[in-house]
Amino acid sequence: MSAGRSLLTRRRGNVWVRSGIILLVVFFIWVQMNFLTFTNTSVQNQEYTNESNAIFNMVPSVLHKFLTPRPRNTTHSNGTVINTAYKPILNITEIKKVIAQYNLQQTVHNEDIFGPLQNDSVIIVVQVHDRIKYLRHLIVSLAQAQDISQALLVFSHDIYDEEINSLVQSIDFCKVMQFFYPFSIQLHPNEFPGADPNDCPRDIKREEALIKKCNNAPFPDLYGHYREAKFTQTKHHWWWKANRVFNQLEVTKNHTGLVVFLEEDHYVAEDFIHVLKLMESTCKTSCPQCNILSLGTYLKTFSYYGDPKKVEVTPWISSKHNMGMAFNRTTWTKMKDCAEYFCKYDDYNWDWSLQHVSQYCLKEKLHAMVVRGPRVFHIGECGVHHKKNNCESTGVIAKVQKVLKSAQKHLYPSYLTLTYVSPLKKTKIRKGNGGWGDRRDHMLCIGMTMR
Ligand SMILES: *[C@@H]1O[C@H](CO)[C@@H](O)[C@H](O)[C@H]1NC(C)=O
Ligand SMILES: *[C@@H]1O[C@H](CO)[C@@H](O)[C@H](O)[C@H]1NC(C)=O
Ligand SMILES: *[C@@H]1O[C@H](CO)[C@@H](O)[C@H](O)[C@H]1NC(C)=O
Ligand SMILES: *[C@@H]1O[C@H](CO)[C@@H](O)[C@H](O)[C@H]1NC(C)=O
Ligand SMILES: *[C@@H]1O[C@H](CO)[C@@H](O)[C@H](O)[C@H]1NC(C)=O
Ligand SMILES: *[C@@H]1O[C@H](CO)[C@@H](O)[C@H](O)[C@H]1NC(C)=O
Ligand SMILES: *[C@@H]1O[C@H](CO)[C@@H](O)[C@H](O)[C@H]1NC(C)=O
Repeated sequence: MSAGRSLLTRRRGNVWVRSGIILLVVFFIWVQMNFLTFTNTSVQNQEYTNESNAIFNMVPSVLHKFLTPRPRNTTHSNGTVINTAYKPILNITEIKKVIAQYNLQQTVHNEDIFGPLQNDSVIIVVQVHDRIKYLRHLIVSLAQAQDISQALLVFSHDIYDEEINSLVQSIDFCKVMQFFYPFSIQLHPNEFPGADPNDCPRDIKREEALIKKCNNAPFPDLYGHYREAKFTQTKHHWWWKANRVFNQLEVTKNHTGLVVFLEEDHYVAEDFIHVLKLMESTCKTSCPQCNILSLGTYLKTFSYYGDPKKVEVTPWISSKHNMGMAFNRTTWTKMKDCAEYFCKYDDYNWDWSLQHVSQYCLKEKLHAMVVRGPRVFHIGECGVHHKKNNCESTGVIAKVQKVLKSAQKHLYPSYLTLTYVSPLKKTKIRKGNGGWGDRRDHMLCIGMTMR
């Protein structure tokens, strides 16, 4: 999930009923984040009249291919124009067939070059929707990461798109696997889990809905709203993908190492695998209660390289520690055993649902080790559900590249120092954000764990 989404759409429940204080706090944080962004990018923009050129200049030329869309037509030497780029658009029936095949075959690309997956290799799972522009930059950053050649890079898609596929399939720097979330809206445009024409409209009153006998009349969320398909997809996809990676793939059967969860609009530092391994070993020696690692932080992130070796040990908080998360099968198995808590909690955010799992189901709550100097950055100014005016801007990417360049000497620490952050005084009992009241969503989600 993107910061934009987490900050702006969480208040989907009844905004007017929810307290103004939350609004104010969110607004304040939002202003702060934008302030942080703007203060630096305006300088950036003066330096470079052409943002794209600036970005290209900071990327090794061998990686430019990942940033450049393939031309749709090439002219053959004899003068004929050949459409080489993409196969014809498939219809839904055909896409269903193709993705069933992908999901069945579980092909690991480049295994012949980089060798089989080791039980302690890092697995990186990227949840991909449709923002190919950001995905290109994520791939460029991954290509430059040390030890990426030993990792398995997995892409979990909820949209079948030829252009994204050909980008992913052009990756040549590590093992790659793709799979496709089969319950997507793309594949079910007029039926659940998409929006069925007989579903109740979001804002209809329950009594009215019951009279109208629309599909989900008895199941509005805790704010009285009915489901909106597009807001439910991300949580379903997240749960499906985690189940698949840990429990359904042949290649991960014996895997006991870390799985890192990224999204298409993230960007990694070149030493992120090094830091991850260091955190893993530091956990074993010094932090038995740590069961989840976090490589990203949202706020104030860009100034923390002042203390590059520092990591925090803290109770896991969904809104702070959901970026660049990593955990192993031990932690996953405990989460999975709490599937009912995850799947029936009336909140459409996967991270808040995980928080609920941690709070009310796990015997040992999620306890995070968090880097002060982030190794995963959020570059998506425009969220999945939020289009701002300037979605084409590459200012944030240029800024991240620049920050990492200037932090170069702080990368690859040889050890970490732990700081303990004590739990919040009072764990608030919090209502969910809604959007997840529909029994069909609960059943679909739970079914993913049974399968
Ligand atoms: C910026 O640079 C890119 C790549 O070199 C080029 O395609 C684009 O036309 C340039 N844009 C402007 C406004 O100069
Ligand atoms: C590519 O070529 C086809 C004909 O082969 C033409 O219809 C199409 O407009 C061309 N597309 C672009 C982007 O040039
Ligand atoms: C040009 O080359 C293409 C690809 O080899 C071939 O399919 C096509 O028939 C040729 N056209 C002409 C006019 O020779
Ligand atoms: C999809 O395409 C296939 C093959 O081209 C065709 O047989 C089928 O009727 C199409 N289905 C729909 C729903 O258009
Ligand atoms: C990983 O596999 C090796 C043999 O391939 C085995 O000796 C080792 O115990 C395994 N490690 C774990 C953590 O399972
Ligand atoms: C997992 O371990 C078993 C037993 O050691 C072995 O037979 C199997 O080939 C391994 N599977 C993979 C995918 O490594
Ligand atoms: C997995 O993580 C747990 C902490 O949650 C740790 O105790 C355990 O040793 C790890 N397992 C392996 C095989 O590294």
